Amino acid sequence: MKSRSQLSRRRVLALTGAGAAVAAFPFVRPSFAQGGPLKVGLMLPYSGTYAQLGEAITRAIELYVKQKGGALAGRQITFVKLDDESEPPKGAENTTKLIEGEKVDVLIGTVHSGVAMAMAKIAREAGLPTINPNAGADVLTRALCAKNIFRTSFANGQVGLATGKAAAEAGIKTAVSFTWDYAAGKEMIAGFAEAFTAGGGKVLKEITIPFPTVEFQSALAEIANWQPEITHSFFSGGGAVKYIKDYAAAKLGIPLWGPGFLTDGVEAAVGAAGDGVKTVLHYADDVDNPENKAFRKDYTDAYKVPPDVFAVQGWDTMQLLEAGLKAVGGDVSKRDAMFAAMSTASFKSPRGPFDISAAHNPIQNFYLRELKGGKNVLIKTVATKFSDPGTGCKLAS
Ligand code: BEZ
Repeated sequence: MKSRSQLSRRRVLALTGAGAAVAAFPFVRPSFAQGGPLKVGLMLPYSGTYAQLGEAITRAIELYVKQKGGALAGRQITFVKLDDESEPPKGAENTTKLIEGEKVDVLIGTVHSGVAMAMAKIAREAGLPTINPNAGADVLTRALCAKNIFRTSFANGQVGLATGKAAAEAGIKTAVSFTWDYAAGKEMIAGFAEAFTAGGGKVLKEITIPFPTVEFQSALAEIANWQPEITHSFFSGGGAVKYIKDYAAAKLGIPLWGPGFLTDGVEAAVGAAGDGVKTVLHYADDVDNPENKAFRKDYTDAYKVPPDVFAVQGWDTMQLLEAGLKAVGGDVSKRDAMFAAMSTASFKSPRGPFDISAAHNPIQNFYLRELKGGKNVLIKTVATKFSDPGTGCKLAS
């Protein structure tokens, strides 16, 4: 019981069957037990600004396993959930709790780029299969890429580049960017500026406020003074709800654009205040493929709320994990073979085709969408099979 009792009961939200087995036989790792369950650690935010993102990812992950009868590649799956609170200073300690304390076989996490960077450092040293279902910190699949770390979401810069390209192609010439001051916001507005400028646009001003602040009024006044053709903003989760409402209430008369994290998952909460917000993302509610139709129906039937991009990323995390597990017959101790299979994985996602780059980041389509009547309606495909440059990644895969 030693390792378990060291954990914060408040943060370890759920332990299931395999957890009980570990408690009874603390020195036997489940992966070595013949046919025993595979213990998957979910390190995600279940409280704070990004709580609903963590919940959406978790729901899709659990739905995937349920649809497979509770097992992947012949291994029963059990989960240990840990609330990382989107707190970067706690990232290393929380990761260690799952790897050393809970002795998880596979690690899935997280949402916040700052937490993910702390997590990746520990996971990289531990070498266990690790899948990042959201956090976009560029370095994770650029200079700090790792053999055992895969991402099923995006790189922040990749989304920023696609958004800047879409804005320039729409003929927009001036923008003000406004975001939270941490890796995600900074890298998205940097990518936006690069592509927007290359397409003939000009970023008049970049404004930041600390994460997770939601005091937007002085920035909105500053935007009004600049009079750009558009405002370009990254906020997400609870922060996005307040921002979209505050932006609409300010009646600036300046169209609001952003990466799609601004509107995904908050459609109902923002209501009519969100109508007309244009965003770019690797997902849109009405991506026209059978995988998306089935996913949206099954998820909505199961949870009585529609899925969003975060749920799609959770779903694809399990598609990638299953591809790796199948290659090794469920034996995660065969790490090289498992990582080789994951490195070349290619599958059909609700978002469209999903391939993985040499740096372990998705190669995917990006869509321009407009929020209308509670749906992120697809306007056009902005980039097809678009890859992050993976600059500085030295993996041989
Ligand atoms: C990030 O911190 O990387 C992030 C958080 C929420 C949405 C998108 C990116």
